[in-house]
Amino acid sequence: MQNIPLLSLNDGYKIPAIGYGTYPLDNPQAETAVREALSCGYRLFDTAANYGNESGVGTGLLSFDVGRTDIFVTTKLRGRDQGYDSTMRAFDASLQRLKMSYIDLYLIHWPLPMKDLYVESWKALVQLQKDGRVRSIGVSNFLPEHLTRIIDATGVTPAVNQIEMHADFAQREALEVHKKLGILTEAWSPLGRGSVLENPVVGRVAQRHNRTPAQVLLRWVVQMGAVPLPKSAHPARMKANIEIFDFELSETDMNDLATIDGNHRTGADPATCTEE
Ligand SMILES: NC(=O)c1ccc[n+]([C@@H]2O[C@H](COP(=O)([O-])OP(=O)(O)OC[C@H]3O[C@@H](n4cnc5c(N)ncnc54)[C@H](OP(=O)(O)O)[C@@H]3O)[C@@H](O)[C@H]2O)c1
Repeated sequence: MQNIPLLSLNDGYKIPAIGYGTYPLDNPQAETAVREALSCGYRLFDTAANYGNESGVGTGLLSFDVGRTDIFVTTKLRGRDQGYDSTMRAFDASLQRLKMSYIDLYLIHWPLPMKDLYVESWKALVQLQKDGRVRSIGVSNFLPEHLTRIIDATGVTPAVNQIEMHADFAQREALEVHKKLGILTEAWSPLGRGSVLENPVVGRVAQRHNRTPAQVLLRWVVQMGAVPLPKSAHPARMKANIEIFDFELSETDMNDLATIDGNHRTGADPATCTEE
């Protein structure tokens, strides 16, 4: 089993350099998959109230012999729960479903600018962190203007922004903004939901290293300075996806992979997404 490096967050906590994504697993599937992922060596787990699988994730984590401080659990506030008081209630409910006394990282799932509640929601996350109920706080799918607004309103910079990122949607500008602000980028859909796996450039780089296309795409995320959150329901793929810390892509590989960035989203646009 490979040793997964730990990266430092801007609040002093450490986060594993790769995580296991749990969408769209249901509760029973998530329970099995999380146990399997733990045995492959994953220690960072990504769920959300909106995935409807926090309970399965929590049960899976409890069923494996691992210390609480050796795992890192992320969940997210869904759109319909945005607002100060409703965020507090939603956090309690997530904690209960996960069967945990604290969460490592709590994120606002989408900014939903049309509701204009993300600043109030962020204030609630800041309070939850002050109360010691969550270790790190962050956001997901926030554009630079949303980041600036919550930082200006509270003086607290998110530890993480989890955004769509893969070789066909490289997010270079967002990465630059995050770096300047001291925010760690997490990459959701790091395999482009499977859409980039068949790309011939990825295939050629994979051949050079005797690796799979998925390993090349995940290693690319790591070398871009972000934390990939791949999802697979298959144990052999889960295991292969985490084995990316014993090889390095060269400058030529990175330049070749840069050519496939078509600025193609596979998911929703944060400026208009109305996730509830
Ligand atoms: N914050 C947000 O708004 C947001 C949005 C979307 C996703 N996410 C998070 O990001 C995680 C990952 O994103 P995602 O699931 O959309 O996309 P992804 O990880 O890019 O791709 C998952 C797809 O790739 C397949 N796959 C995985 N490993 C493979 C391999 N080695 N070889 C071939 N196929 C492979 C999976 O199939 P099998 O399962 O059949 O292997 C699945 O169909 C989610 O689970 C979730 O935790 C967050």
